[in-house]
Order: sequence, then structure tokens, then C-alpha cells
Amino acid sequence: MRIVLVGPPGAGKGTQAQFIATNLSIPAISTGDLFRSNVGQGTPLGLEAKKYMDAGNLVPDEVTIGMVRDRLAQPDAADGFLLDGFPRNTAQAKVLDEILAGHGTQLDAVLELEVPSKEIIQRLSGRRQCRANGHVCHIVFDPPKTEGVCDECGSELYQREDDREETVKHRLDVYKEQTEPLIGYYSEKAILVVIDATGRVGDVTERAMTALKPFA
Ligand code: AP5
Ligand code: ZN
Repeated sequence: MRIVLVGPPGAGKGTQAQFIATNLSIPAISTGDLFRSNVGQGTPLGLEAKKYMDAGNLVPDEVTIGMVRDRLAQPDAADGFLLDGFPRNTAQAKVLDEILAGHGTQLDAVLELEVPSKEIIQRLSGRRQCRANGHVCHIVFDPPKTEGVCDECGSELYQREDDREETVKHRLDVYKEQTEPLIGYYSEKAILVVIDATGRVGDVTERAMTALKPFA
């Protein structure tokens, strides 16, 4: 299946992407993770992206689209993928349609994760991520066994620069202005499905799998 995951910052896209992609045996492709990995390695792409990311703004389309185009051309994405964090505006959505048409394919489904803003702030303010592999946990909802250490790989946990309160508010505004119009774009194509993304992580995954079934 070819799926796009959409939802506000902190909706649980990264958390759910791993489970849904494993269930469907497709790669989870996160533009946020691709950018963070480039930032960590100090590549020219990372240096360019960092200034936008730290401020909670979108990285310019020409940078983002080139990166996604390259990733979707990899052999593991040929039979399906789950995109997390892309597209993020209508221009990116149109380019994605063109890239897929070029491969003789199209999107099967767009899954929107719905979470109230109050819970989003709680999720982002308590989020911690590991430096080595980007594993995500939460100091209250999914606390690590040892403070500051990733349960999954033992590397150091840190708070993302863009998870500071002021930046979170700005990211939510950016989502409303630039990303929310995508909901209408995909709804018109009749491939949009919306789920309640509150409650236990496993319950949300179950809702996602049920919602995606008709599009398989
Ligand atoms: P990106 O990394 O995509 O950030 P985002 O969309 O803001 O999403 P997040 O990673 O903040 O949240 P998430 O929905 O993945 O939630 P998570 O699973 O971590 O993008 C970052 C930046 O990169 C952008 O601002 C931009 O600059 C740039 N960028 C990326 N893509 C781009 C594009 N296409 N174009 C231009 N620029 C782009 O969960 C959050 C927390 O909640 C975690 O702590 C988790 O443990 C917890 N949690 C998850 N599920 C639950 C649950 N059910 N109950 C309780 N807690 C939960
Ligand atoms: Zn880790």
C-alpha cells in the first residue's frame, strides 16, 4: 500500500508509523527523521534545514521535494510506503502525485490522526528522543526505565529544539495554515480516512489498521 500519514505536530505520526508500517511490511519514511539525521551528520542539506526546523517553519519545497524524490526511488519503496510528514502543503501534494504517476502508481490512502490541541501540548512538552536512532518516548505517557537513557538502544535522550513551548505554538499555526488544506485536497479524491488518535498507542494502531483495510 501507498499511504500518507497526516496530523498536527505531536499527533503520534512517528509513533504510529512504525507499527502500521511493520504490520503492512512497508518502509516508514519520515521527512522529519530524514532531516534530523542530516542535521546530526552535519551534511549541507542538514545545515540548510536546521535553521527552518529550529524555528518551527517548513523547510523550502525545493529542498524537501528533492530529498523525497530520491527516497521514493529506492528499491524498498517500489511496492509501497508510509509517508510521515510529507506532503505538508498543497504544492508538495501535487508533486507527490506527479512522482507517483511517473512510477505508474498512485496513493491508496491518506490517514489523518486527530488529537485535541491541549493533549498535543502535553505530548510535545514531555517528548524525548534518542540521539542515535531517533526512538521516541514520553516522560509521563511512556517513561524510559532509566532517566535520560533510551530503552531501545541505550543512547542519550534529548528534547528537540522545536519542542519548546513558543515553537510548538508556531508549529501548530504553520500546520493550520499550510498543512490543513491538504485534508480537503485528499477528501475530494475520496482517499481520506480520519481516526481518533487519543487513548493507548496500541488502540490507536488497531483503529488505524481497521480504517485502512478498505483501501488495501
Ligand atoms: P516532523 O518531525 O515531521 O514534526 P511534526 O509533524 O511536527 O511531528 P512530530 O514529530 O512533532 O510529532 P508526531 O506526530 O510524529 O508525534 P510522535 O509520534 O513523536 O517535522 C519537524 C520539522 O521538519 C518541521 O517543523 C519542518 O521544519 C521539517 N519538515 C519535516 N517534513 C517537512 C516537509 N514535508 N516540508 C517542509 N518541512 C518539513 O508523538 C509525540 C509524543 O507523544 C511522543 O512523546 C510520544 O511518545 C507521545 N505519544 C504518541 N502517541 C501517544 C498516545 N497515544 N498517548 C500518549 N502519548 C502518545
Ligand atoms: Zn534509541
